[in-house]
Amino acid sequence: MDLDKPLGSVIQGSLSQGLEVRLHPDVSVEDMRVGKFLVVQGARSRFFCMLTDVTLGTASTRIFANPPDPGNTFLQEVLAGTGTFGTIDLTPMLMFTPEPEEPISYSANSKAKKTKGGKNARAAEDKSDSTASLPLLASLTPQSSSTIELMPVKTIPSHFSQVHEASERDFRAVFGWEDDPHRRNFAIGQPIDMDVPICVDLDRFVERSNGVFGKSGTGKSFLTRLLLSGIIRKQAGVNLIFDMHSEYGWEAVREGKQFSTVKGLRQLFPGQVQIYTLDPESTKRRGVRDAQDLFISFDQIDVEDLMLVRGELNLSEASLENAIILRNEFGKSWITRLLSMSNMEIQEFCETKMGSKSSIMALQRKLNRLEELKYIRNTCPHNYVGQILDSIDAGKHVVIEFGSQSNMLSYMLATNVIARRIHAAYVQKAEKFLQSKNPSDRPQQLVITIEEAHRFLDPSTVSQTIFGTIAREMRKYFVTLLVVDQRPSGIDNEVMSQIGTRITALLNDEKDIDAIFTGVSGAQSLRSVLSKLDSKQQALILGHAVPMPVVIRTRPYDETFYAEIGDVPWEEMPTAAVFKAAESAKADLGF
Ligand SMILES: Nc1ncnc2c1ncn2[C@@H]1O[C@H](COP(=O)(O)OP(=O)(O)O)[C@@H](O)[C@H]1O
Ligand SMILES: [Mg+2]
Repeated sequence: MDLDKPLGSVIQGSLSQGLEVRLHPDVSVEDMRVGKFLVVQGARSRFFCMLTDVTLGTASTRIFANPPDPGNTFLQEVLAGTGTFGTIDLTPMLMFTPEPEEPISYSANSKAKKTKGGKNARAAEDKSDSTASLPLLASLTPQSSSTIELMPVKTIPSHFSQVHEASERDFRAVFGWEDDPHRRNFAIGQPIDMDVPICVDLDRFVERSNGVFGKSGTGKSFLTRLLLSGIIRKQAGVNLIFDMHSEYGWEAVREGKQFSTVKGLRQLFPGQVQIYTLDPESTKRRGVRDAQDLFISFDQIDVEDLMLVRGELNLSEASLENAIILRNEFGKSWITRLLSMSNMEIQEFCETKMGSKSSIMALQRKLNRLEELKYIRNTCPHNYVGQILDSIDAGKHVVIEFGSQSNMLSYMLATNVIARRIHAAYVQKAEKFLQSKNPSDRPQQLVITIEEAHRFLDPSTVSQTIFGTIAREMRKYFVTLLVVDQRPSGIDNEVMSQIGTRITALLNDEKDIDAIFTGVSGAQSLRSVLSKLDSKQQALILGHAVPMPVVIRTRPYDETFYAEIGDVPWEEMPTAAVFKAAESAKADLGF
C-alpha cells in the first residue's frame, strides 16, 4: 500500500468522542481493521490515532430501499464513494506540534538534536508524571530519543484533515528502538499490519505492577515468557516466578498439530536463572539438572497463610480465630503442637485459654491434610527461603516449580509463605536505603510473577494476603507484581487500578473486559478493539510502559527469538555467526 496516499478525510468528531473519517472512494473498508494505528495530519499538528470502529454509510434512503443487484457491478461502482461510502472512527492518542520555525524531523542521528530530544522527552515525562496519580491510558511519553515532542491530545484536527497510514517513521518516533542505548526498550511485537517493532519501556514497566490477561489459550504464557526474557536480557530487574504449570523455567509444550516444545528461561539464560522445585522427582524427570529442592516447614506457616487457603482447606471463621489463640500460645511451632495434641489436651487447652473445642478439633483434622503434602516438613534445619533471598540478592532470577504439587492449595500456600518473607526482607532493605541514601544500598527492583492471580487478589481475601499489600504499596519498596490471569474480573478493583501496564489478549466476557479498563479514563472506545483481537498471538497494550495504547502481533517465541535474546553458548552457534562476532570483537580491540 502506498503510505503517502491519504485514506480519508475527517468529517466530524469531538475531543471526547473521537473522530469520524470518511474513507476515500478507492479505499476499501475491508482494509480497515480495528486496532490499526493511523495518523491524521492537521493544519498544525500531527495526531496519532487508533482505529476503533468501522461503519458503512449510504447517502440516500433510496439506496437502502433499492440496493443494486448483486450482479450489477457497474452500478455498484458508480455508487461507491458518493452514494455509498465507508467511515471509520478514530481515537486520537497523542499529538505532535512542530515548532513553527523548526521543520519536522524524526532523525535521531545528529548529536545536537539528540540532547535536545532527550531534554524534550524528559520535559514531557515531567508533565505526564504530574498527573501520574491517576492511571492513564498510557505514559504519553515517546520511547525514542528522536527530537519530536509528543503531547497528550488536547485538541482535534480541523475539518477535512487527511488521514494516513502510519509510516515506519511514525512508529519509531512513538515506540522507539529496541537497541536505543538510552533506554531499556524491549520489542514485544509488531503492529497488526506492518513490520516495525513495538517496544515497551522496561524501566517504566518494572516500576509498577503489571498484568497479562486473556482467555485460556490466547498466548498469556508466551507473552509472559517474552516479558521475563526481556527483563532478564536488559537487566531491568530480578524475577521471582511462581511457575504453577512448570512452563517458564525449563521446556514448555507448545500447542499445535505436532508435538513441540519451547525453551524455558533457564535454557535461554543458563547462568542467570535458578530453578527451585517443590517436587524434585518430577523436575528431574523433565530433564532439569541442578534444580534446588525446596521444602516448607510447619513453623513457617502463619495463620495469615491459612486465611488465603481457607477455601481449599474448608476452614471456618471460628477455626481461624482459634488458630490465632493457638499461635499466640505456642508461637511459631503452633501447627506441630496442634497436630500432636490429643483430645484430652485440646479439652484442657480450651478450658484455660477460652478456645472452642469443636473448632480446634476441626482445625486439627483439616490441617492433617497438610502433612500429606510432599514438600511440607515438621521442621527444616535448612533455611530454604533464605537461600532464595540470597539468590535474588545476587541478581539471579528464581523460578519456583511445583511439578505434581500444582494444585491451588499448594500453589497458594507456598507462594504466600515465600512471598511474605521476601517482602519482609525487601521492606528492611528499602528502609535501609531510604535512610542511608547510598546508591549501593538500593535494592534491585524485584518482579514477582504469579499465575491465577484472581485467587490471591479477589476482593474478599485481598486485604489479608501479602499480594494485596504488594500490589497496593510495594512500589515504594522496589517490589512489583506481574499477574497472569484469565479472569481479570475476579481481581479486586482497587488492585486493578494499581496495575500499571495491562497486556491483554482476547477476552470475551463483558465483565472481564470491564475489569481491564478499571480506573482508566477514556478507554470506552478501546473495548471494541479488545473484543475483536485474534484468538492467538495478538494483544492490546495500554498503560504506563507504552506511550499510547497499541495492538500488537506478539513477537514469535522461537529459534529466532532465542538467538536474538538468549545467551547462546558458543558451541551451539552457527559457525558463520561465531566468525562474525569474532570479527567485530577484534575490531573493537583495534586489530
Ligand atoms: N508469541 C508466541 N510465539 C509462538 N507461539 C505462540 C505465541 N503466543 C501464542 N502462541 C501459540 O499459542 C498457544 C497458546 O499460548 P499459551 O501462552 O500457552 O496460552 P495461555 O497461557 O493464554 O493459555 C501456544 O501453545 C503457541 O502455540
Ligand atoms: Mg498459560
